[in-house]
Amino acid sequence: MTSTSNAMWGGRFADGPDAIMEAINASIGFDRRLARQDIEGSRAHAAMLAAQGILSTKDAEAIREGLLTVLSEIETGAFAFSTALEDIHMNVEARLKAIIGEPAGRLHTARSRNDQVATDFRLWVRDQCDAAMEGLTALQLALLDQAESGADWVMPGFTHLQTAQPVTWGHHMMAYVEMLSRDIGRFADARARMNECPLGAAALAGTSFPIDRHATADALGFDRPMANSLDAVSDRDFALEYLSAATICAMHLSRFAEELVIWSSAQFRFVRLSDRFTTGSSIMPQKKNPDAAELIRAKIGRILGATVGLFTVMKGLPLAYSKDMQEDKEQVFDAADSLMLAIAAMEGMVRDMTANRDSLRAAAASGFSTATDLADWLVRALGLPFREAHHVTGSLVALAEAKGCDLPELSLAEMQGVHSGITDAVFGVLGVDNSVASRTSYGGTAPDQVRAQVARWREILA
Ligand code: ARG
Repeated sequence: MTSTSNAMWGGRFADGPDAIMEAINASIGFDRRLARQDIEGSRAHAAMLAAQGILSTKDAEAIREGLLTVLSEIETGAFAFSTALEDIHMNVEARLKAIIGEPAGRLHTARSRNDQVATDFRLWVRDQCDAAMEGLTALQLALLDQAESGADWVMPGFTHLQTAQPVTWGHHMMAYVEMLSRDIGRFADARARMNECPLGAAALAGTSFPIDRHATADALGFDRPMANSLDAVSDRDFALEYLSAATICAMHLSRFAEELVIWSSAQFRFVRLSDRFTTGSSIMPQKKNPDAAELIRAKIGRILGATVGLFTVMKGLPLAYSKDMQEDKEQVFDAADSLMLAIAAMEGMVRDMTANRDSLRAAAASGFSTATDLADWLVRALGLPFREAHHVTGSLVALAEAKGCDLPELSLAEMQGVHSGITDAVFGVLGVDNSVASRTSYGGTAPDQVRAQVARWREILA
């Protein structure tokens, strides 16, 4: 099946495209999401053309006004997108022509869809960096609130998911504040690097028109124009960097989500997730499922998939633009939607969740979690080498395990049976509160350290 040749580029074509060709070629089904950026870019381009005397002021004004009409049609849903017009760029231009007539045809002077799409997409991804940073900051604030109220709530710290040493709830929350701050840093770095403008590179070689690329770069909030026209139209590093940052961030969210799934189980009971972020079961009335956490845990799958997908599209592409690059957008759109949803859901869950202080404490006190404190005490009080202290403590743990009790429940006599030098001062270090309070090294879990970190972060985020 054929249609008549394309109005935008059909000069040398006698026939229109096959229906399958139209289907594989069109990007309007997804790149309509770039409408606002496309119109912003075109308005800047038209203003620059007029300032340079390439376009009359009258035509530029008609174009700039007409583009606003197109934008409002798109935003109100009144716009009729056409697959025959391939993409957002030609859809907008064709509609502009219908509204303002002949001057619309002058807008595409000194540019190409190649620099146009590179500019639009960069603007879109730049916005997503900002959105991610904003969402992550909100999540950090939710974590800070949790950390502040539970700065001295004792919980078990794990290695290998085995009880290791007591830590504080606040300290655990603050670990995620740190992780997320690195994510924010990665989005900020990517944003700074991507903030150069491809517009004016035209198809690939630049243009013979006396354009002012600094002016368009400025108008669109870029730091400067990209310095090489071939690079400008063929670069998708900005999308890859965004996806890479998003992938690491999604990995962090997935780890936290996994902890929430474990912690909210009946076996742990460390946290209670709110009704707002859980669901029930249609068959088991007792169930409260942590679906939001599970879905956040899973989002890394499609975000990493998008990252691998775009790297695979880009590898081996010769300079400059190839149509392969049209396959950049859907993956980034999906990854960005997934990431923003995951961040928002996590923020809501963290704001709503209540830590079960008693369960945390009971769990912290079991599993010989203060064995390291005991070993440290043997070093400090009795002058034992750490290796020997480790051995003595191991024997005491074995004794407690055989008796079915925890370390503080052993009698002094029983302890002295293992090492005669032990005095009853040892009981001072076997409590979980003493344990966490003693971890005062910088970055340690002592409540005072946690409060200091909370205060530092409050200042940073203020
Ligand atoms: N829809 C295209 C894309 O997303 C726009 C650029 C098309 N350029 C071209 N020479 N056909 O990549």
